[in-house]
Amino acid sequence: MMSEQYCDLTATAPSHLQTAVFYEIKDMTRGETATVLFAEDPAITLHSLNLQLRNNLRWEISRTDAGHWLTVIHRAEDVAPVDVFDSLKRDHKRLDAMFSQVIHLTDQNHLVEAHAIMRAFIEGLRKHFAVEHDILAKAIRTPPNAMGIDPTAAMMQEHNEILNQSIMIELSFDEDDATSTSVSPLLAILAGYLSKHEYREEATIFPIWIGAINKAPEAVKAALFQQVLATLAD
Ligand SMILES: [Fe+2]
Ligand SMILES: [Fe+2]
Repeated sequence: MMSEQYCDLTATAPSHLQTAVFYEIKDMTRGETATVLFAEDPAITLHSLNLQLRNNLRWEISRTDAGHWLTVIHRAEDVAPVDVFDSLKRDHKRLDAMFSQVIHLTDQNHLVEAHAIMRAFIEGLRKHFAVEHDILAKAIRTPPNAMGIDPTAAMMQEHNEILNQSIMIELSFDEDDATSTSVSPLLAILAGYLSKHEYREEATIFPIWIGAINKAPEAVKAALFQQVLATLAD
């Protein structure tokens, strides 16, 4: 029987919130959820807790009629990734989730917190690209498509674009006159670009890579998977 905890923290002092949430979720196992009610937007509390818990938490937030913030928290992974592509697709989702939080926090005018998550997002991008460039693209050659374009070259070009835009956004948080209005349009452009890129990558490059890896001996596959996990986690 899965446990569904509910806990009302609307009367808890802000300085104790993070600890209170931690006690609610610390024994939560995979598949379980904890529902927590907050008086204020809990995004910052949950992000800061999540950084301590190695990004192991996910949550959905909704508003109650009384104006409280209802949060359903669960563990990030119900099952361990099964292979290289499973872990890369999950990493896409994780990066998307971090980037959505940057957008959310920027909209709420929490620029300091948004900036911190933006920096973590860039770190995550670098690890992700390290897997795709240094491990997979180096090991597997992709033939040019019908238009004569090598999909790997196109992917790398898009990665450069994503990284450059991300760094530009990170810097724009640093400007003295940074506001939600100055940063939001840049975030919106990158959000669209990023999701198109991930979609294209999963539809065009991953199948070629999967085909190549499937032909490799089991021991090679297992070693590659470990290397990918280690690079993403490191
Ligand atoms: Fe990717
Ligand atoms: Fe990519």
